Amino acid sequence: MAVNTKTIGLSLGADLCWPACYEEIVRRLKLEIPAGDDAIRFQIERLTVEPFDLQQPCNYDIVLDRLTHWFAASREWIKKAVLLDGLYVLNNPWSLQAMEKHTSYAAMMKLGMPVPRTWMIPPKEHAPSADLKPTLERYARLFDLGSIGRELGFPLYMKPYDGGAWVGVTRIDNEEALRAAYEQSGTRVMHLQQAVEPYDLFVRCIGLGPQVHIVRYDPSSPLHDRYKVDFHFVDGDAWQLLTDTCLTINAFFGWEFNSCEALRSGTTFHPIDFANACPDFQVTSLHYHFPEMVKNMVRWSIFCAATDRKMQPCLDWEPFFEVAKRDLPYRERLHAYANIARQRLQADAFAEFCHTHLSHLNEVVWEFFATDFARDCVHQKVTSLFPAHEVEQFTEHFWGLIQFWRKTEGERLGLT
Ligand SMILES: Nc1ncnc2c1ncn2[C@@H]1O[C@H](COP(=O)(O)OP(=O)(O)O)[C@@H](O)[C@H]1O
Ligand SMILES: [Mg+2]
Repeated sequence: MAVNTKTIGLSLGADLCWPACYEEIVRRLKLEIPAGDDAIRFQIERLTVEPFDLQQPCNYDIVLDRLTHWFAASREWIKKAVLLDGLYVLNNPWSLQAMEKHTSYAAMMKLGMPVPRTWMIPPKEHAPSADLKPTLERYARLFDLGSIGRELGFPLYMKPYDGGAWVGVTRIDNEEALRAAYEQSGTRVMHLQQAVEPYDLFVRCIGLGPQVHIVRYDPSSPLHDRYKVDFHFVDGDAWQLLTDTCLTINAFFGWEFNSCEALRSGTTFHPIDFANACPDFQVTSLHYHFPEMVKNMVRWSIFCAATDRKMQPCLDWEPFFEVAKRDLPYRERLHAYANIARQRLQADAFAEFCHTHLSHLNEVVWEFFATDFARDCVHQKVTSLFPAHEVEQFTEHFWGLIQFWRKTEGERLGLT
C-alpha cells in the first residue's frame, strides 16, 4: 500500500491559538484515509514570506489563508499557485480582493434579501491626482446630504462601503450629526444605511464549507464578551433561514469561511454585514465557540485535501439569478439558492466523508481541550493581547468557558 501525503499550508499572520490547536488535533486524529490501494496521510506546514519564482512548484495541496485581505505578497503567491499549480485555497483570493461589503449588498438585493435601504455617497475629500480637478469640475454634482438623510430617516448608519472591524462606523441621529460625520470621513467612500432599530436579536452566522455555526452576538459588550454563550435563541425555522442565507452568500462569492451578521426586527432578519471573509478566529473572542470552529475547520480542510476538491476561481452567478427570476415565495427561493450552495459545497459528500473518516473527531477534540497544551494556546493568545496584569485573569476566564463547552459537549456525546 502506497502512502499519499497531502500537505496543508497555513498562511498566517497574528493568529496564534487556532493554528496550534488545529495542528495538534490533526496530529492526534492519526488519519490514514483509504483511497483505492493507497492511504492518505496529512502533514501541516506554515507558509513563509520570501521571494519566489513564478514557475517554482508548489508543495501544498491546500492552503488555509488568513492574510489575503491585507498582505499582498502572500495573496499574489497564492494566486500564482492556484493558476500554475492547481492549488486549493480557502478563500478565493480574487473574490476576496474584489468583493467588498457594497457588492454583497447589491448581490443580496438582487436575490431579494431584506437588506436595509442603503445609499452610497462620493467621498468628502480626494487624494490629489492630475485628473482630479477636471473630473470633479465636469462631473461631480452638488448634493444635499441632509435630504438623503431625511429620505432614509434617522437614526441611520454611516460606514465605509468596504468596511471591516467597525472602523469608521457612526450611528447618526440627526442632520447635524450627519454633516459632522461626513466632514470627518476624509477620503473614504461611505454608505448611509437605514438603522435596523429596534432589533431584538443580533446573530453572527459563521460558515465553513457547508457548515454554519450561529451565535448570538452583542455589539455593546466589551470585546471579549460579544459572542454570547446562549442556546435555543432561534427556532428551527429561523435557524434554517439563517443557514440558507449564509450558505447562499458564501457560495455566491466563493467564500468558504465567512461570517454573516443579521439583525432581527419583528420576524425579519436583516443582513447588515455579510462580507467578512477572514472572520475572527481568536479564542479571546470565540471562547465557548472556539472548539466548534476549530472542528469545522479540521473537517472541511481535511475533506478538501483528501478528495482533491477542485478550486473554482471563477464565480458563476447565473444559476442564482435564474432562481431569482422565478416567481417563488421568498423562503422557497432562498431554499433554492441554498441548494445551489449545498451542491457547490458538496454538502452530501462532505457529510458522508465526516461520518466515514472523522467520526472520532468529536472525542479527540473533547479530550484535547482538557490538555495543558490547549491551555497554553489560550495563555499565549491572551498574553499577546492583554496587559500583563490581566493575563492570568483572562486566561482563566477563557479557559473556564472552554471547560464549560467540554461539559455541554461531553453531555451531548455521552462522555460524562
Ligand atoms: N443598519 C444597521 N442597523 C443597526 N446597526 C447597524 C447597522 N449597520 C451597522 N450597525 C452596527 O454597527 C456595527 C458595525 O457595522 P458593520 O456593517 O458590521 O461594519 P464592520 O464591517 O466594520 O463590522 C454592527 O455590528 C452593528 O452593531
Ligand atoms: Mg460587522
